[in-house]
Amino acid sequence: MAIFLDTGKISDIEKYLKMGIIRGVTTNPTILLKEGITGGMKGIKDRTIKIAELIDPYPLSVEVTTNDREGMFRQAKDIARWAKNIVVKITIHGPKGELDNLEVVHELETKHDIRINVTAMMSAQQCFLAAMAGASYVSLLGGRVNNMGYNVIEDIKCLRSLLDTYKLKAQIILASTREVLNVIEWLRAGAHIVTVVPSFLDGMIIHPYSKETVQMFLDDAARGEIKAEPLAVARKKGKA
Ligand code: G3P
Repeated sequence: MAIFLDTGKISDIEKYLKMGIIRGVTTNPTILLKEGITGGMKGIKDRTIKIAELIDPYPLSVEVTTNDREGMFRQAKDIARWAKNIVVKITIHGPKGELDNLEVVHELETKHDIRINVTAMMSAQQCFLAAMAGASYVSLLGGRVNNMGYNVIEDIKCLRSLLDTYKLKAQIILASTREVLNVIEWLRAGAHIVTVVPSFLDGMIIHPYSKETVQMFLDDAARGEIKAEPLAVARKKGKA
């Protein structure tokens, strides 16, 4: 899987999809609001369906917009019907630590066959329990963890080892990228997927020394074209 794009912007998704370097898309209400998506669920549904069609069969994560227990069930079932490649995102708990969420995750995964991405997680232990509950994806917000003064790499290694030991199906998504370097370092630490801010992909591709090298090739190709004719003439005359 490796790289997902953390965006709701159609043009960015098209750009990197055509390059063949992304395998999924993740969104959340904050990302969609930044994209100018308003109008509640109707606005989210319209954009979601467009993205889901564009990236099919790759997965698209779409978050519920409530933390009410029944509301999460209702929205998750509704969102999952919008397209077959949708994964529903649910936070690990509510804003005050309310604990309905993992029960909702467990029931949706095991009784309703809906793929769930548990999000807003800051530690391996949160992700481990979300994986135990049956989540298909567990999202660890690496940049936010690092901003608290811890290095998320230790959590990634620990989590991957637990998932492998106990043969849990969850895929680890590292989100909240802050630097280009995060993509490779988090994958190497054991993340199955890093969901990347679009501009970081350009940063991974473009290198100043590659630019200089490409310029050298182009300059020499142009010089070779200029010299090509006199050399051919000389060869004909047997002088070269
Ligand atoms: O998917 C969660 C991610 O988008 C959060 O990123 O940059 O707000 O920490 P950030």
